[in-house]
Amino acid sequence: MKTPWKIPFLDLAVRDDAERNALLGAVDRVLQHGRLVIGPEHDQLETRLADHHQRAFAVGCGSGSQALYLAFRALGLQAGDEVIVPALSYIATANAVALTGATPVFCDIGDDLNMDPNDLARCLSPKTKAVVPVHFTGKIAPMAAICAFAKDHKLRIIEDASQAFGAKQAGRAAGTFGDLGCFSMNPMKVLAACGEAGFVLGDDEALQERLITLRYNGTVNRETCVAPGPNGRLDTVQAAMLLVRLDRFEQLAERRRGIAAYYHDRLAPYVTVPREAADSTDIYYTYTIQTDRRDALLAHLTQAGIECKIQHPILMPHQPYYAPLNSSVPHADSVIKKVLCIPANEKLTDAQIEIVADAVIAFFQ
Ligand SMILES: Cc1ncc(COP(=O)(O)O)c(C=O)c1O
Repeated sequence: MKTPWKIPFLDLAVRDDAERNALLGAVDRVLQHGRLVIGPEHDQLETRLADHHQRAFAVGCGSGSQALYLAFRALGLQAGDEVIVPALSYIATANAVALTGATPVFCDIGDDLNMDPNDLARCLSPKTKAVVPVHFTGKIAPMAAICAFAKDHKLRIIEDASQAFGAKQAGRAAGTFGDLGCFSMNPMKVLAACGEAGFVLGDDEALQERLITLRYNGTVNRETCVAPGPNGRLDTVQAAMLLVRLDRFEQLAERRRGIAAYYHDRLAPYVTVPREAADSTDIYYTYTIQTDRRDALLAHLTQAGIECKIQHPILMPHQPYYAPLNSSVPHADSVIKKVLCIPANEKLTDAQIEIVADAVIAFFQ
């Protein structure tokens, strides 16, 4: 039986009646017209997402993992190529590279938990084709330095913006810095489907065409196969529900940022809190604190019924499949022992976030 958490990390049930009715209405409309895959709501969602980011296109995909894989394939990555990825991400980032046949090269991270641009030169080789900044926790990676490096070495940039829908840096939105921007909209994300979903953003029409071909078994006009590809399409039902949730996104983001501001104020004297640059808007997919006493704090919060997560305890280069690459990422090795994600989603009440903050402070006092 599942532990009945006093404060769960994330409750995926839809408990708000107005939201549930809107979602059910959206599903009902799809059931009535019957275009269940790539139906009208799917096309409408692609247009909304592209417009929202002021990019030429958004291509809906079955998941964020598919979005990354299709983006790498559309750019022609293949065996013999190398792709620089940060040491810390959900494993889908490295796997999407490896699935093309290319090799991920793991770059160290900074204290912001993102790719450290100072380590990029070490990762470069004549085989390097692309760099993949991951905007981890909903904070955009240091893009000015990463873009300058990519330009100097003629590398493609594919952003893994899975955790960062809505984040901004220097006036630009996550997913708009690179050749392609990839997003997950799985149920844990701030803009969340009620199942798996993702999309790729871009400006180059030739890439859009390749993505559309690749996402349906590499076929043109559904029957003629020009390249092997997966079935990576997005269901109309998910798209219809995402349209409902897109309308409420700003409200959700504001609430998350409000919770983060509250935690900053209360927890900064005790732990390292995520710092937001003056020119940035972070989206707090997770609120990740850092402390040398992480394991004891985690035990204390668990005991208090507060569900926390470590994202992700095994760095990508140390996963059994990637360990033979013998990557050296010393700062990531040290930081990963200190990180802890505390509950910070928009469904939490003020009373609940107060309980979380009190419990963290009680531990240090
Ligand atoms: C940084 C990152 N990349 C890729 C993915 C994969 O997305 P999905 O779960 O939609 O396949 C995730 C999802 O958790 C993620 O957080």
